[in-house]
Amino acid sequence: MRVLIVGGGGREHALAWKLTQSPSCEAIYAAPGNAGTADLGENLQIHDSDIDGICEAAEERRIDLVVVGPEAPLAAGLVDALAVRDIPAFGPSQAAAQIESSKWFAKSIMQAAGVGHAGGELFETAQAAHKWLEILGPDDLPVLKADGLAAGKGVIVPDDIDDAHAAIDQMFAGAFGSAGERVVIEDRLSGMEASAMAIVSGADILPLPLSCDYKRIMDNDQGPNTGGMGVYAPPGFVGNPDQVFSSIHQPVVGQMAADGIEFRGLLYAGLMIDDGTMNVLEFNARFGDPETQAVLPLLDGDLLPVLAASARGEVMPHNAISHSGRASVSVAIVSGGYPGHYDTGKPIHGLDAVDDSVDVFHAGTAIDDDGRTITAGGRVLAVTAVADTLAEARGIAYDNVKRITFDGSFHRADIALRELT
Ligand code: AMP
Ligand code: GLY
Repeated sequence: MRVLIVGGGGREHALAWKLTQSPSCEAIYAAPGNAGTADLGENLQIHDSDIDGICEAAEERRIDLVVVGPEAPLAAGLVDALAVRDIPAFGPSQAAAQIESSKWFAKSIMQAAGVGHAGGELFETAQAAHKWLEILGPDDLPVLKADGLAAGKGVIVPDDIDDAHAAIDQMFAGAFGSAGERVVIEDRLSGMEASAMAIVSGADILPLPLSCDYKRIMDNDQGPNTGGMGVYAPPGFVGNPDQVFSSIHQPVVGQMAADGIEFRGLLYAGLMIDDGTMNVLEFNARFGDPETQAVLPLLDGDLLPVLAASARGEVMPHNAISHSGRASVSVAIVSGGYPGHYDTGKPIHGLDAVDDSVDVFHAGTAIDDDGRTITAGGRVLAVTAVADTLAEARGIAYDNVKRITFDGSFHRADIALRELT
């Protein structure tokens, strides 16, 4: 099969890495890709939001399967546009992608399906939202969410009631563009967070190992949110992983089908778990980033026929892949200053000093005119180690992280530590 991966982050490099291991993968392309995907196949200079450009490239290169990484092209209808041209694509239709692209849509589905979630209200004016905050009172601080896609930045967890009012004003003033035209005010939940990803083809659900993402920039979850500073898998605090999928993914996919929307692709549930009680904070309609960089290395077998079956809406060959039962730790190396301002174009040293058993997934990287691998984004690399135990995987990951350097590089030192102390 000839495969085109849409996107250019660490998730897409991890997908390309896994899919090129398939005996049926003849060629792999990435649009736009990064220095990591360039090493495995060919990068196409097409932006991931250029729907026409992707459709044309897929036709020209006789692509058998398009695998869509990021949420924006899904929400913009890339999979539907490819379907018109009879090109199979792994990922949901625009209608099904609403599970991520509208927080309120997701809440309505969970409500109807009886799936535990953070309760909330939808507001279409700042005035009504302010009034609701006053009714809640200063001791009942909620979470504020732009209803639409806001590049991962549309969630505000306010420190006090003044912060909450200010956030409402910002959202309705257009801080998140059209994503903030409607705002959800949600109950604040506490507990431990985990990510539950499953590959879905209609009613057929194939669970992947659970994982935990570290979103804040600094150790001990201090500082601003980022796109993800590291991941470990699997978490030790989730009772029975199978129950996650039967009590969340199955009813949600069933409810969507009952409403006339078939889900095909990756369904990601962001969970808050408190004393055994599980609630959904959000859904994503795509592989998590950076979760994918820790989860795919835990899968034995061939992922390509599974994604291809999902793309066609067929029953998936579950036996094609299995969970290795091992543990993984993935540490992000980022540019100094991220998630604020940072410089790019810094040569990266030490990539060839990494153990063969360790996977280094590229995110913001590029090749310069002299053939050097340089930084090209905030999150630059994800260093993933797999071992029999989480402690071992963590040791190997950090031992290798320190061999890779570039001017201003930064990483968190506490990924997976909470499971080991
Ligand atoms: P998101 O951008 O949707 O991944 O959300 C960012 C972070 O906001 C989540 O990882 C949680 O830590 C936090 N969050 C979102 N919703 C809630 C909620 N209802 N209660 C508490 N924290 C939340
Ligand atoms: N790691 C969270 C996400 O992919 O949205």
